[in-house]
Amino acid sequence: MPQPRSFLFTATIFSTSIIFLFLYAPRSHLLRDYSSHVLHSYSEHRRSDQIELVTNNTFGFQKIFAVGLPERSDKRDALALISSLTGFKVDWIDGVKGQSVPDKVLPYGVDRVKLWENNLGSWRGHMNAVRTIVEQRINTALILEDDVDWDVRLKSQLQIIAHGTQALQAIAPSASSPDIDNSPYGNYWDLIWLGHCGEVFPENLPENLDKPASDPISRKFIIHADTTVPPPQHAHGFQNFTAEPYTRWVHVTGGPICTFAYALSLSGARKVFFDLSVDHLAGPFDNALAGLCRWEREEERMGMRCLSVTPPVFVHHKAKGKVQGDSDIQDFGGNDETRKKGYTENVVWSARDNVRELMLGREMKNQFENTEVV
Ligand SMILES: *[C@@H]1O[C@H](CO)[C@@H](O)[C@H](O)[C@H]1NC(C)=O
Ligand SMILES: *[C@@H]1O[C@H](CO)[C@@H](O)[C@H](O)[C@H]1NC(C)=O
Repeated sequence: MPQPRSFLFTATIFSTSIIFLFLYAPRSHLLRDYSSHVLHSYSEHRRSDQIELVTNNTFGFQKIFAVGLPERSDKRDALALISSLTGFKVDWIDGVKGQSVPDKVLPYGVDRVKLWENNLGSWRGHMNAVRTIVEQRINTALILEDDVDWDVRLKSQLQIIAHGTQALQAIAPSASSPDIDNSPYGNYWDLIWLGHCGEVFPENLPENLDKPASDPISRKFIIHADTTVPPPQHAHGFQNFTAEPYTRWVHVTGGPICTFAYALSLSGARKVFFDLSVDHLAGPFDNALAGLCRWEREEERMGMRCLSVTPPVFVHHKAKGKVQGDSDIQDFGGNDETRKKGYTENVVWSARDNVRELMLGREMKNQFENTEVV
């Protein structure tokens, strides 16, 4: 059997098929549901009890925060229900309306006219979550927007992803952030971007094109034959899903769009707080956060250590009902446009779409069931 390190980090990964079978049992989302040979290839040098922590009711983070306007009780109700059915607990952080952010609190560099009013509100809501992490010295926390959705097999997905984030940190095995202690995701990271609208791999960014293929920036943990990835014709992102169907990558962050979900360590939260509020703010929140990951990664700068998952496991849900209700940031669509059925990109067994099934223990509905599934 190959050593996990070498097979994860070399080109042979492309020819190694890691088959993850999701044998679904309604009440159990544990990694033991995977086929035994998959588990065997991981168990060599990782402490499985540590990975097991991913299944606790905060997914192996110390806290899970959801950011949302207090008056959007519709969104709070829905998120409370599906997170409970998926087996995790969220703490709420009040979002903020842009109009209520006075001029004098704006960070250096903010152009209020260019940055939409509500974008400013979104920035402030996220900052309130980040400040909570910094003030309460929370080691690791996951921050969610209030309209996200996920696959009902999220716990299993996160367990595999935790193997991936650990593997990507294994190049510096002894390195560790002083504030992280025995995280199942590894002890040497600032941010893990779990929910976004898509991103290019870092080696494809202009500033990295000249780097050799062996550069650590292009290292990836590849999950093959992942049945929680939609069929290629329905997979969204900047990757070629036809060439690599049913594949999910854990990788160094390139430049994600949207901030549906991301985890921060305490050191990461401090860096975000400094770079996106106390020192300055360089644009809309998601661009500024992606910029921090992209431009401050060198040790001689802020040494920001960001990892991503593509396709992401948290995605914005387009709820049924008025299209206008989707966002408090932008006014989408026409005035009276109505969506008859909710939809979430890149999610196969949508938690929001399967509330009845989860409660009644029925077979899960697949958002893409009328398409060929290999
Ligand atoms: C879940 O595990 C993490 C990592 O060990 C820990 O920090 C957190 O407190 C645990 N959550 C709960 C609710 O026990
Ligand atoms: C994606 O990959 C497929 C199969 O390898 C290829 O035929 C197609 O041209 C690729 N698409 C793009 C946009 O590169």
